[in-house]
Amino acid sequence: MDESENKTSNPRVASGAATLGDIINVRFSRRGFLASASAAAAASGFGCATGAPQARGAKTTRNFDFAEITRGADGDHHAPEGYHTDILLRWGDAVFADSPSFDPYQQSAAAQERQFGFNNDFIGYYSLDAKADGRQRGLLCVNHEFTSTDLMFPGLAGRELTQRECEIEMAAHGSTVIEIEQDGEGGWRPVVSSPYNRRVTAGSTPMEITGPAAGSDRLKTDDDPTGREAIGTMNNCAGAITPWGTYLMAEENINGYFLGELETDHPEAENHKRFGVPAGWYQWGRYYDRFDISKTPNEPNRFGWVVEVDILDPASTPKKRTAMGRLKHEGAENVVAPDGRVVFYMGDDQQFDYVYKFVTARAFDPDNREANRDLLDDGVLYVARFDADGGVAWLPLIFGESPLTPDNGFYSQGDVLIETRRAADLLGATPMDRPEDVEPNPVTGRVYVMLTNNIARKTDETDAANPRGPNAFGHIIEIIEPGGDFTSTRSRWEMLVRCGDPAVPEIGAAWNDATSENGWFGAPDNCAVDPQGRLWVATDGNPYTGANDGLWAVSTDGALRGTGRAFFRAPNGAEITGPRFAPDGETLFLSVQHPGDGRTANFEAPTTRWPDFKDGAPPRPAVVAIRKKGGGPIGG
Ligand code: FEO
Ligand code: CA
Ligand code: CA
Repeated sequence: MDESENKTSNPRVASGAATLGDIINVRFSRRGFLASASAAAAASGFGCATGAPQARGAKTTRNFDFAEITRGADGDHHAPEGYHTDILLRWGDAVFADSPSFDPYQQSAAAQERQFGFNNDFIGYYSLDAKADGRQRGLLCVNHEFTSTDLMFPGLAGRELTQRECEIEMAAHGSTVIEIEQDGEGGWRPVVSSPYNRRVTAGSTPMEITGPAAGSDRLKTDDDPTGREAIGTMNNCAGAITPWGTYLMAEENINGYFLGELETDHPEAENHKRFGVPAGWYQWGRYYDRFDISKTPNEPNRFGWVVEVDILDPASTPKKRTAMGRLKHEGAENVVAPDGRVVFYMGDDQQFDYVYKFVTARAFDPDNREANRDLLDDGVLYVARFDADGGVAWLPLIFGESPLTPDNGFYSQGDVLIETRRAADLLGATPMDRPEDVEPNPVTGRVYVMLTNNIARKTDETDAANPRGPNAFGHIIEIIEPGGDFTSTRSRWEMLVRCGDPAVPEIGAAWNDATSENGWFGAPDNCAVDPQGRLWVATDGNPYTGANDGLWAVSTDGALRGTGRAFFRAPNGAEITGPRFAPDGETLFLSVQHPGDGRTANFEAPTTRWPDFKDGAPPRPAVVAIRKKGGGPIGG
């Protein structure tokens, strides 16, 4: 989603009024600085002359080897010379053998429930047994984060959304689980006849609420007096595949789906305010009371969780795992610690919000899938404090331990989890520059934190881990867990790169000198680690640097540490999300989200009609499968 949407609701800090575009135009116009760039770079100590420092004790990974693409902006996608890019799944494509064919002029919720949803984001891949002839097959798990209303429906100008259209939007949210297989030529195709295929949606999928907050009075509604049964999930941004083969869908900007007003002395008023509820981006509350907080004040508390889906049982009920906290969850990438416990890293995507990790109480049992069924209901949620001396303190959110006590309005662990953000405020966590993906690298033992931007941070509000105010282009931090123990409560952090154009000294970017004019970027968002342990970073907001969003390879060690290399460029209006490597590293799946978007774009006038380029037909968010011609690892 557009980065200007995630303005702070953290009461400890002030909200910024300017837009990202305003800030960049006034302060960082490339035209105004190019002439004096080299002199000022020398004076500032930043810019292209200064590469990121070598991380202490980092393992060395192989250098990237591909022909870098160029910066730019147009209506098509671009990958390096020598790579195939296949469109694997588009909005409206069949998920089942009986799915109706896609007709954007005659769409219905019933059809959309059987078709690939809108705005695909996270991509997970779970390997199934290969075919007898050796072809790989697996389950692709794809989030449909949100709907771009103006791009989905024809003839919207000057009228309200109908109930039928709201119901189509609900059906276009959620996720798709679909089997894919290699086609014999090295490419991939969906298997619509697979018994594993399913759609999860915002409007129709029953969910179970589990863990310490389940059954809380604050989760009860007229429709669900138990506080344990929700309907649907929405704004599922990134997520994860767990070591026991389930799929996690992270609920992010759920505030956007609620309308209505609550009296200021209502017991949930402050809680909702801290979460930005209601933001009223969607009209669903006009037709469904549960999305109107004046009628159903507890409904927002039933969203903002991590949802676990058992992909091997398509009839299973997804579970909202409250032990992992309630926040604007970006993702939940994870790693098995040396003692077998599983550690989930999570960003709360908001200006001045926090980085978390969840450590399961019990160890993962690789030999007994059933034993891991409810591992996510019991564990400790920690929030990070990044200290100026390079230390990270992980602060536990445990009810009864000061300050998370009745004196501060917490009466149970359920309360602590429902108000995770306020609990973290009280613990003194470090307000960050919009934490997006946080991804452990099992090869190097390090953890990468994407901090996308924060234009509301003032110059006098900077700290070591968030050193720029305003921070228009974001940065990437590396967390080093001592001795590879991901469960540690004391870690270290280092800066990997400060994003933005290194040729404009006022930006204060820091890249390795080897970074080309195509290799730097702004607004790191999702990331992936390939099977060789190398980092890949997707952006959402790079257009503010004058070029479309895309995917970059970023070296994390050796002499090239802090070097970016441009690998994939999105078509106009799109961000790149969900990067995921097939287990052999020879296919890279990417989500192209909201292609054709733009300030005045709509169904009739998108900024591109990618990927079909058919007159009168809308652009379609899609999953792209990228392979090297002739085979071999992506990126060399
Ligand atoms: Fe859904 Fe934080 O991007
Ligand atoms: Ca984003
Ligand atoms: Ca994201």
